[in-house]
Amino acid sequence: MKLLVIGDIVGRSGLDRLKEELPKLIKNKNIDFCIVNGENSAGGKGLRNKEYAEIISYGADCITMGNHLYYRKEMAKEYINLSKLLIPANITNIEGNDNLIIDKNNIKLGVINLVGRAEMGEVFKKNATNPFNEALKQIDILKQKGAQYIVIDFHAEATAEKIALAHYLKDTVNCIFGTHTHVQTADETIFDSGMAYITDVGMVGPSDSVLGLKKEIAINRFLTESYIKYECSDNKAIFNGIVVEFDEFTKKAISIKRINM
Ligand SMILES: [Fe+2]
Ligand SMILES: [Fe+2]
Repeated sequence: MKLLVIGDIVGRSGLDRLKEELPKLIKNKNIDFCIVNGENSAGGKGLRNKEYAEIISYGADCITMGNHLYYRKEMAKEYINLSKLLIPANITNIEGNDNLIIDKNNIKLGVINLVGRAEMGEVFKKNATNPFNEALKQIDILKQKGAQYIVIDFHAEATAEKIALAHYLKDTVNCIFGTHTHVQTADETIFDSGMAYITDVGMVGPSDSVLGLKKEIAINRFLTESYIKYECSDNKAIFNGIVVEFDEFTKKAISIKRINM
C-alpha cells in the first residue's frame, strides 16, 4: 500500500502547484491514498468550501487542518458538511470531523488530525485537550470501525512534542507525520515497530517567502516586533511531501521517501 502525504498548501500559488503535480504523482507512483494538509489554502489562512472542492478534485482522499481553522469564521459550522475533511480531534469548541476511514482498493485507512499544545499559543492551551490522550481515544474508535492502517497528522510547532508522540504511539499506529512549520525536516525514519515517521512534511507554497508570508512583511514584523497584517506571497511554489510504502501483510512501513521539488 502506498500513501502520499502533501504538506500545508499555501494560497493560490500552492494550489496551482498542487494542480500541476498531484494528479501526475498519484498516477506515476501508483498511490493508493493521498492526504493533503489544507489549513493555509485560502490565501494563506484557513480553508473555504471552494479550496476544499479544488484540493479534492486533484485527487486528495482526505484534507487535514490545523491552527488556522478558526480564521474563516463562517466555516466553523460548515466543516461538518465536508465529508473528507478532518479538523484536529482535540479541538474542543468545534464539533465533528474527528476521524475518518477511507475505504478504497479493499483497504480501510483510518486518519486522525491532532493539534499540538506546546508553543502554539494560549488559544490551544484553552481550546484543545491533550493530544496524547485524544490520540488513544480516536485510535480506539478507528479500530472499532475496522481500520487496517492508522495514520496521524500531528499539526504542531515543537519538534519535541512531535517526536514524543511518535515514541508514545509507535506500537499502535502505522504512520505519524508532522505539519505546521512549513519547513521539511530530514529525519524521516521507520521505527523498529514498523511505524513511519517524519517531524514535518513541509509545504506547497511560494518559495521566495517566509513560510508563505511576503518576506518584507515578515522582516518588518521582526524589526518592529509588532503585528503587521498577513499577505500571502505569490511566486511559484515549492512542493513538499512524503511517500510511504507499507507491506500489505504485516502493515509495517517498508520505506518513507521525501519529495522536495
Ligand atoms: Fe500551515
Ligand atoms: Fe499551522
